[in-house]
Amino acid sequence: MLDILKAIAREGIKFVEKHDFVRIFTHYDPDGITAGAIIATALIRLGKDFQVRFLKGLNEEVEYDKDDLVILSDMGSGYPDVVSKIEADTIVVDHHIPTGRIEKDNLVHINPHLAGLDGTYELSASGTAYVFANVLGDNRDLAGIALVGAIGDKQKMKGGNAEILREGIESGYIEVKSGLSLHSMKVREALMLSLEPFLDFYGKEDELEDFLRKVRIDGDKDFEELSDEEMYRLSNAVALRLLKMNAYTGVFNDIMRGRIILKSELIRNAVTMCDVINACGRVTACSLGFALCLRDSKYLNKAFEIWRNYTTELLERINAVRDDVREGFCIRYVIMSDGNAASPIATIFSRYFYPDKPFIAVSVKGERAKVSARGNDSLKVNLAEVMQKAGEKVGGRGGGHRVAAGAIIPADKVEEFISEVDRLCCSQG
Ligand code: C5P
Ligand code: C5P
Repeated sequence: MLDILKAIAREGIKFVEKHDFVRIFTHYDPDGITAGAIIATALIRLGKDFQVRFLKGLNEEVEYDKDDLVILSDMGSGYPDVVSKIEADTIVVDHHIPTGRIEKDNLVHINPHLAGLDGTYELSASGTAYVFANVLGDNRDLAGIALVGAIGDKQKMKGGNAEILREGIESGYIEVKSGLSLHSMKVREALMLSLEPFLDFYGKEDELEDFLRKVRIDGDKDFEELSDEEMYRLSNAVALRLLKMNAYTGVFNDIMRGRIILKSELIRNAVTMCDVINACGRVTACSLGFALCLRDSKYLNKAFEIWRNYTTELLERINAVRDDVREGFCIRYVIMSDGNAASPIATIFSRYFYPDKPFIAVSVKGERAKVSARGNDSLKVNLAEVMQKAGEKVGGRGGGHRVAAGAIIPADKVEEFISEVDRLCCSQG
């Protein structure tokens, strides 16, 4: 099924052969960091030099020499005007919906949507990078890293992702263990710090101890050492808790699909690796996450420390803004006056508390506001279009996927923007 995409990817070989130095610009989230690392590893194995930069989006400056090869990863397809202006040879490795023609001859555009595949749920930027890496050489050992990116973008193990998973299992790099998907650490900590599933135990220590007593599990036991019987009891209790919380039904599939174990990686549990890389990206330590993907163990302890701090801060923040959620006609939203937590807050609130309407989180920082919008398949609202249109209306810019999109807008236009988003969601839904 990946044949057409592979054929497109093969066109990139000529650019890689032509250049000795490559500038990789990749997104700062887990899908972007893993995609960048997969491309970088493939280039290292070909003896190429590269520089990697992590960006929040193409709103930021892309610096290059005309003679370089520029690779944009996990970005580009939604910003054809910006890519058209890049003078150097360019390869775009992305999975966002292409929003227009890129006017440029020296371009190779590798995107599942251009190969008849689903880039929203079934192949992420890291999966697309994996396909590209494997036309450049034998890089099948990177299958696990490709799946970490897909997990970060909340994709399904279907289509292209399922094919990468199969390839990883066949070549012995990946194993799937049955049972609940949680971090491989002490059960108490795994339940408390889990963001996917988010279980709402933070700040509720008594409730957590009561939960452990009822399921008859020692919280100090390592999650990987639970007996089948204990795993079964825990899975049921977690599912019940999520039902009571009003979680989105899709969550259940995700957490019951077993644990993807990456046999060659420094962090063997794929969900844990994803969360650690995510935390590094969020605190502008992308290169630590990148180093983990390159199997450099020097920063492993530091990366885990960042993950612990980031996660507890985020959980505190979730508790703090819970009472600030406002309701429009067809959306719910929260406006935060500081921090950069819009993206994870929107993801968690829409998946675990309010799956019945699109959820919009805004964090205002100086003169600009960062917006994250999240929905799900049942809502029939295309948030990429909503963010694009409402963003443009107030002099900002937005885009993304149908169920997960975002925008950057002027801070003094937040109320106007929210009204427009509400109006557009009502007209679409
Ligand atoms: O730029 P990119 O496509 O990688 O960002 C997607 C973002 O949307 C990620 O942060 C991911 O966690 C989130 N997402 C989500 N729910 C979905 C799909 C993506 O929260 N169903
Ligand atoms: O930042 P956040 O995780 O909410 O982004 C969700 C999706 O929206 C990502 O795919 C991101 O690339 C996209 N986005 C965009 N333009 C923006 C902000 C976000 O295309 N200005």
